[in-house]
Amino acid sequence: MRIGLLASGRGSNADAILSAIAEGRLDAQAAVLICDRAAEAVSVAQRHGVPARLMLRRDYPDRVAQQTAMRDALLAADVDLVALAGFAAILEPVMVDAFEGRILNIHPSLLPSFAGSVAPGPQAAALRAGVKLAGCTVHVVTAEVDAGPIVGQAAVPVLLDDTVESLAARILAEEHRLYPQVLQWFVEGRVTISHGIARVRPRDEPANLRPERRPPGDRRWFPRS
Ligand code: GRF
Repeated sequence: MRIGLLASGRGSNADAILSAIAEGRLDAQAAVLICDRAAEAVSVAQRHGVPARLMLRRDYPDRVAQQTAMRDALLAADVDLVALAGFAAILEPVMVDAFEGRILNIHPSLLPSFAGSVAPGPQAAALRAGVKLAGCTVHVVTAEVDAGPIVGQAAVPVLLDDTVESLAARILAEEHRLYPQVLQWFVEGRVTISHGIARVRPRDEPANLRPERRPPGDRRWFPRS
């Protein structure tokens, strides 16, 4: 499976995914990392020997044109799956439609709680709400922000003396563990989505849609209802 990464910031999730590939815990290839800001994520890709593309907003007339170019770059790199790894922009239909059901995002809260803002907004909102458990979610991206099928979650305790920074760091450690794991479930063809609900098939349960039954050229790895 060829993964395309989109990032806007420090790139620690991209680093976790690329390290998992390098260490053989994620059986995939990183085809390209596209960054929409001059950010650390570019050097993360370079350090891992992954082609990095900088596609800045100011180089395009508008966001749709920028994301159209990103879509074309992902298609040219022949990616099967797109992983948003700290990508700060909302995806335009031009992107969501091109990779329908094949774009994943990681969000630093237990969705559907604290959806709709970027880090550290969700972590701060968790502290303000006084929740006792916080965490992160990997979900499939749909047109509605942070509302697509939830594939995996990890929870952490919220401690009495937590600050936004300490809570964000505890959640981030789980993000780095969860994201490569969820991607590997996709590689293994164990994720199915039906009526907006994702299900991860246990390893020993036979798939209901065997790869050889798929129409030629159909590169989806899970059936959609
Ligand atoms: C993470 O908290 C992630 O959950 C959110 O953006 C942040 C990205 O961090 N979507 P990094 O760039 O991967 O370090």
